[in-house]
Amino acid sequence: MAGNWKMYKTPAETTAFFEKFLPLVASAAHCEMVICASFTNLAAAVAATRGSRVQVGAQNCYWLKEGAYTGEVSAPMLKASGCSHVIIGHSERRQFFGETEETVLKRTRAALEAGLTPIVCVGEMLAEREAGQTEAVLTGQFQGGIAPLTADEFSRIVIAYEPVWAIGTGRTATPEIAADAHRVLRAQVEGKFGAEAARAVRILYGGSVKPDNIKGLMAQPEIDGGLVGGASLDPVSFASIVHF
Ligand code: 13P
Repeated sequence: MAGNWKMYKTPAETTAFFEKFLPLVASAAHCEMVICASFTNLAAAVAATRGSRVQVGAQNCYWLKEGAYTGEVSAPMLKASGCSHVIIGHSERRQFFGETEETVLKRTRAALEAGLTPIVCVGEMLAEREAGQTEAVLTGQFQGGIAPLTADEFSRIVIAYEPVWAIGTGRTATPEIAADAHRVLRAQVEGKFGAEAARAVRILYGGSVKPDNIKGLMAQPEIDGGLVGGASLDPVSFASIVHF
């Protein structure tokens, strides 16, 4: 279960979140937990989660290790700061910051090389779904951003299916719609990396995941976890998602 805090919270708010959240999930041994915070909150999150099972991730990274790239943060910097994960290719980065399949692939490789687990996001826009293009969009995102990885690299990534029309809208994909998309992705994985890789890869669903819909989503064998935006900002609500 991964939380994506997007551009929310200060370091003090981060510390306060974990003070409440950690006791609520102290007994949760059934899943990995990661909170993906803004760069400015990573130090506070790493300090607060030390000694717990909760891991910390970032929301983006640059693909070069270091250099004259003002404003960028590299994967080795995130690793050295105590991160274990990094979200790559979130639809908000695709929509607002020019992310493409090519840059998704570069960032994913850089994250893997630094020893981070990339959570690579894919998902169709509403117009694409309505035009019957969901499968083609997911296939294109897989082929461009993920398929060029080596089998070893692929074994170390997590995929997140996030239909853009379900993000922040309160309009969750039904468990069946999400599972269909996950099957499309798993078929792509099988075609490129084989049946064992398709079985093993973890595919998270993201898009208006809430305490009251997570159970239905997780009942689908295709869905391995959630990438949770808004509902991960509140410790009680994210803990109840963890305990679905
Ligand atoms: P919401 O859960 O707020 O819809 O956001 C989903 C998301 O974008 C997670 O990465």
